[in-house]
Amino acid sequence: MPRPTVSLSAERAKRKTTDDVPTRDAPTPGFPTTRLRRNRQTDWSRRLVRENELTTADLIWPVFVAGGRGEREPVESMPGIERLSVDLAVEAAKEARDLRIPALAIFPYTDPSLRSDDAAEAFNPDNLVCRAVRAIKAEVPEVGLVCDVALDPYTSHGHDGLLTGERIDNDSSVEALVRQAINQVEAGCDVVAPSDMMDGRVGAIRQALEGGPHKDVQIMSYAAKYASAFYGPFRDAVGSSSTLKGDKRTYQMDPANSDEALREVEFDIAEGADMIMVKPGMPYLDIVRRVKDRFGMPTFVYQVSGEYAMLSAAIENGWLDRDRVMLESLIGFKRAGADGILTYFAKDAARLLQSA
Ligand code: PBG
Repeated sequence: MPRPTVSLSAERAKRKTTDDVPTRDAPTPGFPTTRLRRNRQTDWSRRLVRENELTTADLIWPVFVAGGRGEREPVESMPGIERLSVDLAVEAAKEARDLRIPALAIFPYTDPSLRSDDAAEAFNPDNLVCRAVRAIKAEVPEVGLVCDVALDPYTSHGHDGLLTGERIDNDSSVEALVRQAINQVEAGCDVVAPSDMMDGRVGAIRQALEGGPHKDVQIMSYAAKYASAFYGPFRDAVGSSSTLKGDKRTYQMDPANSDEALREVEFDIAEGADMIMVKPGMPYLDIVRRVKDRFGMPTFVYQVSGEYAMLSAAIENGWLDRDRVMLESLIGFKRAGADGILTYFAKDAARLLQSA
């Protein structure tokens, strides 16, 4: 019987291995010599041939902090997610430590009375983020803390930068972002994560850190961040949906673009980013793959609030199985090339992974 052969995809033949050694694909014999189901028939065999793995070490847990003591307040559009007062954020960090989740990302719900055109509260050494960072570092120093750099929780207009007339002014915004970053670093955060998408901000922050005692603080840059409708529930959580005037399309990326993401990432690497991020996640898996293939950097992806809300709504209706969609959505990011994932499922996913 003639043996039909199928050649593996041209894409794979073109792709280089991590060692840059060209690979030659052996011709794969066709059916029935090859039966791909053979390897899938038992659990041990499926585990043996599995290409990607999700572990708790892949997770960053975003936590919303608010004022008060012993207070937790549900975020309506994110079922199961709460804003925590600082003392409870410390408890969350202890849970992260116990679950071996490497890091938390801290986001503040700033009291409306503290929001202003010049975002002054962002530079206050006693603002909510700084208090949370100090409190967590004092009790749980082994958990990494990532602080967002962007002015939207602090501005009266809800933008990530400063307005001059109707425009978000790039260069004065960068100066403000540098001040915000240094303020957070002085409070003790380990990683600053500029999410503002101003041009040149990574370089400016890196330069400011390089001169002083904090030169080893890491920068995780939201390098390819799109102007996405999937951030809606997050803006409810930090209280910026009602303040935001207009949209963020003059600084966040057009969802139609892909080459531009590579330019954004290339700049941020050149400016001194240690880790880069793509955001949102699920609708942008192609970007994660291109970025990882091109730069080989520690690459992160943010499964954003709208993705969480969307899955949670279907789960609450009994239309999707929570545990399974949670893990499937997360392994999809690993398969696309991500080294780690910011996800509101972090705690539950870590629990599941530990019990597996
Ligand atoms: C702030 C910021 C946003 C998110 C992370 N940092 C919102 C925005 O840019 O409007 C979104 C995260 C999420 O939706 O989960 N610049």
